[in-house]
Amino acid sequence: MSLETFLKESRQRFEDELAEFLEIPSVSARSEHKDDMMRCAEWLKGKLTHLGMKVEIISTPGHPIVYGELMEAGPGAPTVLVYGHYDVQPVEPLDEWETPPFAASVRDGNMYARGTADDKGQVHVHMKAVEAYKQAKGSLPVNMKFLFEGEEEVGSVNLEDFVKNNADKLACDAAVVSDTPMLSPEHPSITLGLRGLVYQEVVLRGPSQDLHSGQYGGGVVNPANALARIITQLKDENGRVTIPGFYDDVKDLSPAERTALTDIPITESEFAEEAGVPATGDGEAGIYWLERIWARPTLDVNGMLSGYTGEGAKTIIPASAMAKISLRLVPDQDPRKVREAFESYLKSLKPEGVDMEIEFHSDGLPWAADPEGPLFRAAASAIKGVFGRDPLFIREGGSIPIVPMIEQILDTPVLLLGFALPGCNLHSPNEWISLDLYHEGIDTMAHLYDAIAKEYAK
Ligand code: BES
Ligand code: MN
Ligand code: MN
Repeated sequence: MSLETFLKESRQRFEDELAEFLEIPSVSARSEHKDDMMRCAEWLKGKLTHLGMKVEIISTPGHPIVYGELMEAGPGAPTVLVYGHYDVQPVEPLDEWETPPFAASVRDGNMYARGTADDKGQVHVHMKAVEAYKQAKGSLPVNMKFLFEGEEEVGSVNLEDFVKNNADKLACDAAVVSDTPMLSPEHPSITLGLRGLVYQEVVLRGPSQDLHSGQYGGGVVNPANALARIITQLKDENGRVTIPGFYDDVKDLSPAERTALTDIPITESEFAEEAGVPATGDGEAGIYWLERIWARPTLDVNGMLSGYTGEGAKTIIPASAMAKISLRLVPDQDPRKVREAFESYLKSLKPEGVDMEIEFHSDGLPWAADPEGPLFRAAASAIKGVFGRDPLFIREGGSIPIVPMIEQILDTPVLLLGFALPGCNLHSPNEWISLDLYHEGIDTMAHLYDAIAKEYAK
C-alpha cells in the first residue's frame, strides 16, 4: 500500500487514538495529577512498543521521561532524535471551555482538548509517521530516538540532567521538535528562534493578618498597593524593562534580519484580531511589532493575588500580595545573570513596612538557529513534497528550554517544525489543532525521513 493510501485510510483510526491520548489529564503543574502523568507515560510506552521501539520509562524526581529507540536503519544511516512533551498546562478557567478539556471533540475540522496543539497532538504526529512509514514502506531509512518528557510546562527541571548524563545514548545526527505553530495554514513554517525565560514569584508580607482598612489605612503599608507600585516601576513609559543592565547582552538584529521580518506575510491588525484585543501595544516604542515579540526581551506579570476578591465589597488591608512575573529573553542574554539582576532590583524597590520573598520557578536559554545544512535542506524538501511550497522561516516568542540544551549538549542541529496555528489557544481554554494540519504533519514527517536519509548520504 502506498503511504498516501495508508494515511488516507488511517485518518479516523489516528484521530481516535489521539483522542485517547488527550483523555489522560497529564497536567504536570498539579500534584493531584501525579498518577495521571505516570499513566500517560505508560500509555506512550505501550504505543511506542507497538511501533517496534525499545522503550524505557525513566523516573525523575518529578515526572517520568519516556524514551524509545528504533535503530533498524543500521549504523550507516543517520539517527534522528525527536523531542516532545506529553505534559499539558492546567485547564482553568474551566467554565470557559465549550467542551470538557479532557474529552476530545471535533468541530469544523478542528479537534478541541487540552494538549491537542501543545504538545500531545504534535507528539502523536511523530508516532503515527513512524507507523505509516513502516506500514507503507517496510523499514525506516533513518534510526529513530524518541524523547518525550512530562515536565516541559513546568520548566523541564529534570531533563537537562538526563540529557547531560545520557549524551551517548541520545547521540544523533539531527533533532526534530514539533511544538510550535506555523504562521498560517498556507505557510508551513520552520522556527529559527525562541525566547529564553526567567520565571519568578514575588510575595510582599505586611500585617500579620488582614486589617480593617478604616482603622489602619494610612497607618500601615498596604502590600497590594506596594506590589502594584513595584510592578509599575519594572517598565518605563517607552516599554523598556528598567532592570539595570537588562539590555547589555541583547544582540540586535542585523539590517537583513529586520528586512526579513517586515516581509513576513502577517499584519499587525490580523495579529490583533487573532489575539482578541482592541488594539496592539506594549513593548519597546519604535520597534517593529514582530521584532518586539520574536527578537526583543520583555517582562510580564502572569498572575497576581491579594486581598478580598469575592462577591461584594470588603474593606481590608490585605496581609500579603503576590505576583508571578516572567521575563522573556533573547540571544545573548544569560538567564542566570538576568535572574540575579532582577532579584536585586526587586529588593531595591521594596518599601519599608513590608517583607519581600522571592521564589524562583524556572529559567531557559534563548535560542536562534541558522537554516543551513542537510537537515534544513531535507525539511524544505519534505515540506515542498506535502504542501507544494517552500517553508517560511519564522521566529517565536515562546520558550522551549530543552532546545538550546539539545543543540549544545548533543552537538546537533535542531529543526523546529510544528503544525499548530497562532490561534490554537495554547495554554488557553478551547485549545485545538487543525485535523488537516495534523494529518499533513504526519505526511511531512514520513517524507522527512526519506529526505534526511538522502541528504545525509550525500
Ligand atoms: N510549545 C510551547 C512553546 C511555544 C509556544 C513556542 C508558542 C512557540 C510558540 C511550550 O510548551 C511552552 O509553553 N513553553 C513555556 C516554557 C516555560 C513553561 C518554561 C513557555 O513558553 O511559556
Ligand atoms: Mn509545548
Ligand atoms: Mn506550552
